[in-house]
Amino acid sequence: MADFQFSLDQLFRQPVIKITNDLLPMGTVLGRNQHCKVIAQVSEILNVMGVLSAHAQDLRSPVTTAGRVREAPNQYVYLLANVRRGRRGQVCGMLKVGLKQLFLFDVNGAMRNVSQAPSILDFYVHESCQRTGQGKRLFEYMLADMGWSAVQCAIDRPSGKMAGFMNKHYQLERSVPQSNHFVIYQGFFEANHILV
Ligand code: ACO
Repeated sequence: MADFQFSLDQLFRQPVIKITNDLLPMGTVLGRNQHCKVIAQVSEILNVMGVLSAHAQDLRSPVTTAGRVREAPNQYVYLLANVRRGRRGQVCGMLKVGLKQLFLFDVNGAMRNVSQAPSILDFYVHESCQRTGQGKRLFEYMLADMGWSAVQCAIDRPSGKMAGFMNKHYQLERSVPQSNHFVIYQGFFEANHILV
């Protein structure tokens, strides 16, 4: 797990929190003088988890940084923590999603402009707790919160582990070939109410 030198009690009132571009946990009521401290803590978590995710995926630079989240009003980051009241906390997962305009081939090979495609942009569970169901827990939380289904999602450069994850938990394996780095599965257009 990723350790931080501060207590996560104030940030994580529940195991999963959602961060928006104000870099604050959504739905958490904070006193005015707490904002700066919480934003600094959230920024540190996003920057650390972004670097760990990039390493895990062999990417040259992180997809997720506090600066990038701040600049993207259509993107959300879900963080999963192991909170132990009164002690330093550990963050074990991060999932960044958003609505993106994507040009995608449909099953007939026709190019479609999908203006608000539900997209999985960065997903990482710490090595110490991979394959223990934490990824599924985080992903399911996000789906329920966003009101999405798994087949509705376009995935940005899925790794082998991600492909295995989608197959195991959502029986999604057959993709629709694309010319960009996004992967969509058969059923994507129907699930997004796009006639093909
Ligand atoms: N090798 C192969 N498949 C794996 C592995 C692995 N090392 N780890 C997870 N999986 C897949 C398998 O299908 C596995 O099922 P199995 O153990 O029965 O084979 C399933 O995921 C496990 O499900 P969870 O425990 O719920 O998932 P986990 O907590 O491991 O999180 C995740 C999945 C996020 C992909 C995690 O493995 C991870 O962080 N990997 C490294 C970074 C990465 O590849 N991120 C996704 C990149 S794509 C993107 O970000 C848009």
